[in-house]
Amino acid sequence: MTLLDHAPTDLAPVRRLESEVRSYVRSFPTVFTKAVGPHLFDARGRRYIDFFAGAGALNYGHNEPHLKAALLEYLTADGVTHSLDMATAARIRFLETFERRVLLPRDLPYKVMLPGPTGTNAVEAAVKLARKVTGRPTVLAFTNAFHGMTLGSLALTGNASKRAGAGVPLHHVARMPFAGYLGEGDTIDHLERLLGDPSSGVDVPAAFILETVQAEGGVNVASDPWLKRLAAFARRIGALLIVDDIQVGCGRTGPFFSFEPAGLRPDIVCLSKSLSGYGLPFSAVLMRSELDQWSPGEHNGTFRGFNPACVTAAAALDRFWSDGALTADVQRRAALAAGRFEAMGARHGCPVRGRGLIRGLVTGPARASAISRAAFERGLIIETAGPEGEVVKLLPPLTIDDGVLAEGLDRLEAAVDAVFDRPPAEAPREMPEVTARIAARVGA
Ligand SMILES: Cc1ncc(COP(=O)(O)O)c(C=O)c1O
Repeated sequence: MTLLDHAPTDLAPVRRLESEVRSYVRSFPTVFTKAVGPHLFDARGRRYIDFFAGAGALNYGHNEPHLKAALLEYLTADGVTHSLDMATAARIRFLETFERRVLLPRDLPYKVMLPGPTGTNAVEAAVKLARKVTGRPTVLAFTNAFHGMTLGSLALTGNASKRAGAGVPLHHVARMPFAGYLGEGDTIDHLERLLGDPSSGVDVPAAFILETVQAEGGVNVASDPWLKRLAAFARRIGALLIVDDIQVGCGRTGPFFSFEPAGLRPDIVCLSKSLSGYGLPFSAVLMRSELDQWSPGEHNGTFRGFNPACVTAAAALDRFWSDGALTADVQRRAALAAGRFEAMGARHGCPVRGRGLIRGLVTGPARASAISRAAFERGLIIETAGPEGEVVKLLPPLTIDDGVLAEGLDRLEAAVDAVFDRPPAEAPREMPEVTARIAARVGA
């Protein structure tokens, strides 16, 4: 008898014991017990297709068998679990595999730092290093950016309600409009104008930090020319380019790094989420070797380079990144998903966005949350994104079988149709116009 044979079905203990801060359990109110590939199962034996994939932490699906075998073999052999940053066989295997499968084929001779295990730890380390190396305090982040919840990362994050949680002023970050934020206008012109003007009030930054596709921010895609212009401008003003590839790296858009098609060579790259491949907490900061100006222990942490995650990460790189098969699969599945999103968008008058296997359907906030709920009723897990939660965000495992992807898209389409066909109980709260949004922010 295992825990799973006697799984509770009642959420009362969660409501009674867990803090009000809990969130996804409210959107998906059931007790999950098992997970295999693109499927989650609950305690009542119901099967769900997972189009959320741990917010991008499960690019290879749940309990991927090769990764599970490597992990079980390591644990069964009493491999070291915790070792701070002492050398272990698992750590060395990860570093060498990462070099062989990722860095060398892309001619990216980065040094690798393994900070604390979550994405925000990687972001904190990256901006700390950029400030140290350049001696400049300001980091430039973009509208709708999401970089994490600890204070340094939160200062880089755009969302007002998340920022308000800090309880202290969030300093040393300048904000600029992301690609497409000003409609047709090229936001790099705006950036160059402000940073080239000694009287603009915007300090020359230590670094620019960006996501090439803003995932939490609403699936906002930066074009390759925009990314190239930004990289060239950063170089001109001696600012470092930090790409936060935490959610859209590890193959989410096709190639291992999301910035490869634009030909970028960022100074610093943040990775986390799907790096361990198994949903185990694990992060890395990659930096040009000249930037590796840390002194020993200057940035540390108890859980750096968690050994079981090193094992599954190396196994994932061997399994999925020894050739271009996964990238080709992602591109094929992305075309399938994009076609279905375009059809849904056209039918209901909703813009669609995306690259690779991250896609957004912009329905407005009320409808997006109703669609997520209606999808859950149909056995599909899918979340919303965007400043007002106005985007239904598709984020399936990259390895999802084409048939399961189509089945999930059928369920999503049924949910979308049901919500659009339903006469709203109240007028749907759609995205207000600019003046109304300003009034809403200041409570006027
Ligand atoms: C782009 C990006 N950066 C940073 C983070 C923070 O990662 P974590 O939640 O693991 O701290 C996230 C999380 O969603 C993310 O999407």
